[in-house]
Amino acid sequence: MNDAIHINIPAEYSAIATESEALSFNMASDIYTGSLLKTLVASKQNGRILELGTGSGLATSWIANGMSDDAELVTVENNEILLSIAQKNLKDKRIQFVLADGYTWLKEYKGEKFDLIFADAMPGKYDLFKEAFSLLKTGGFYIIDDMMPQPNWPDGHAERVNIFINHLEQRQDIVLTKLNWSTGIIIAVKVGK
Ligand SMILES: C[S@@+](CC[C@H](N)C(=O)[O-])C[C@H]1O[C@@H](n2cnc3c(N)ncnc32)[C@H](O)[C@@H]1O
Repeated sequence: MNDAIHINIPAEYSAIATESEALSFNMASDIYTGSLLKTLVASKQNGRILELGTGSGLATSWIANGMSDDAELVTVENNEILLSIAQKNLKDKRIQFVLADGYTWLKEYKGEKFDLIFADAMPGKYDLFKEAFSLLKTGGFYIIDDMMPQPNWPDGHAERVNIFINHLEQRQDIVLTKLNWSTGIIIAVKVGK
């Protein structure tokens, strides 16, 4: 098996990648993570999906590609320039783009819960995890990437990552698998009530 062969790359992906490179955006999710997200999202027909940290919309394009016609995606980003790239390239009625601070959004959101959360910003991952996880339905996926050392990690981040992984592993309401693949992925499923 050659996992570097990717089929069905979203049509919008290349234009978004070109615009991201022009901005030197170096926090983009990679193609492996995108493909995994598309696959997991496809298991949630009519699903409600949450992405925290839209960036320029690279992962968003994969998520949208995996969604059924009646699924919905809420994606939150605090950088207007990045979000505008995603919005311009992904004209899709199923996607709600939210320009907001993820910390505020997580504390104030009162809507329906989600079937899959891709937590790709500090809020919802290393901060306010409890708040984000409470928005996930039982049986829902909580997905994170960048769990293996990355060139852009600031000093002290590795320790924070280890503490967070340890926390996830100790919880009784999570079943998870760690993948040393792509940038380091954790697939977690919420169990219990
Ligand atoms: C790792 S990148 C996301 C990459 C994106 N998922 C992709 O597919 O390329 C993290 C993103 O979170 C955004 N971010 C950082 N702090 C945030 C906050 N407090 N609220 C909302 N977004 C934030 C950054 O601007 C950045 O675009």
